[in-house]
Amino acid sequence: MAQLFSAEADRRLRLALALGAAALLLAAMAGFAYFRSDRAWGVGAAAPQPIPFSHAVHAGGLGLDCRFCHAAVERTAEAGMPTAETCLGCHDRVWNVTAQFAPLRTARELDQPVAWASVHRLPDHVRFDHAAHLTAGLGCATCHGDVAAMPRTVKAETLSMGWCLDCHRQTQTRDAGRFRHAGIELSSLTRCSTCHR
Ligand code: HEC
Ligand code: HEC
Ligand code: HEC
Ligand code: HEC
Ligand code: HEC
Repeated sequence: MAQLFSAEADRRLRLALALGAAALLLAAMAGFAYFRSDRAWGVGAAAPQPIPFSHAVHAGGLGLDCRFCHAAVERTAEAGMPTAETCLGCHDRVWNVTAQFAPLRTARELDQPVAWASVHRLPDHVRFDHAAHLTAGLGCATCHGDVAAMPRTVKAETLSMGWCLDCHRQTQTRDAGRFRHAGIELSSLTRCSTCHR
């Protein structure tokens, strides 16, 4: 059979096919990385709550400070969640007729915490401390996004190990002097035992 393409054209065609295949593979990998970074980490996904609480209404619209409901955030590892009493302080008076608030009344009667679902919980082997980060001057929005604009609470960041480390590495170069001055070793923020027990 006569040769359809010259040797040179044949070589080019093969090269083009190979490059095309490589490009497809790269696109698939990029797509995977994209979903891995957001969807797989639950970024943007709300959890079902006992009461459809809205930060947009309370922190945004009514302008309540974050600490009004997450009172322990400056002092302890955990930010803390509001008790039924905190909500009913207003809701015994406003909107008190709705059946929506039954879970709050039950919690108050039984003197139990409200069973809020978490979208942020880290695995048990990781140690995180709110007070340490707030003392270092970080605001809630750095890690939680614009919560005051959220009708349903979602994660704004992956909270993956890579995400923590990205900031911890920058912190060391930026504030190196300060940490040495405070008597803390420079490598401490990226050392495994700093975050893992
Ligand atoms: C009126 C009380 C109230 C105020 C004010 C408030 N929150 Fe909340 N917050 C809640 C409740 C209730 C939940 C649990 C229900 C939910 O996740 O929507 C919650 C959940 C959260 C969560 C998710 C917790 C988890 O375990 O996933 C974050 C993060 C958060 N709040 C941050 C903030 C920030 C930042 C502010 C200030 C801009 C703020 N909150 C103001 C009541 C409040
Ligand atoms: C400072 C008073 C105050 C506190 C504290 C408060 N609320 Fe409210 N809440 C209001 C007011 C006022 C409205 C009505 C807002 C509107 O209609 O724009 C409202 C509306 C609501 C609604 C219905 C409106 C909607 O779209 O979300 C729910 C549900 C609710 N609050 C739950 C809670 C829960 C749960 C807590 C405790 C974590 C809480 N509230 C704490 C004042 C308060
Ligand atoms: C450096 C990042 C960072 C900053 C700044 C930060 N948070 Fe958090 N927050 C987290 C992480 C990570 C978790 C999950 C902690 C866990 O599961 O141990 C969390 C969990 C929470 C929770 C749910 C669990 C709990 O601890 O009670 C609330 C509520 C919360 N944050 C509110 C706030 C508020 C309000 C502020 C600002 C005053 C704030 N956070 C600032 C990273 C941060
Ligand atoms: C935006 C920057 C930032 C992010 C994101 C961040 N950190 Fe930090 N972290 C800091 C800074 C700054 C300090 C130093 C605080 C100080 O002055 O001791 C710190 C200190 C710490 C410490 C040591 C302080 C202590 O005694 O508790 C732990 C543990 C820690 N971070 C865990 C985490 C974990 C786990 C994550 C991710 C879930 C995380 N951090 C995400 C900035 C960050
Ligand atoms: C700045 C905080 C931080 C430091 C430092 C850190 N880790 Fe992590 N690590 C995390 C967080 C947060 C997670 C949980 C991520 C998630 O939700 O799955 C994690 C998860 C892990 C996991 C579980 C992986 C998985 O897929 O669940 C292993 C294993 C681990 N880390 C090992 C290490 C080792 C080894 C080092 C030291 C070289 C280290 N980590 C340093 C924050 C940290």
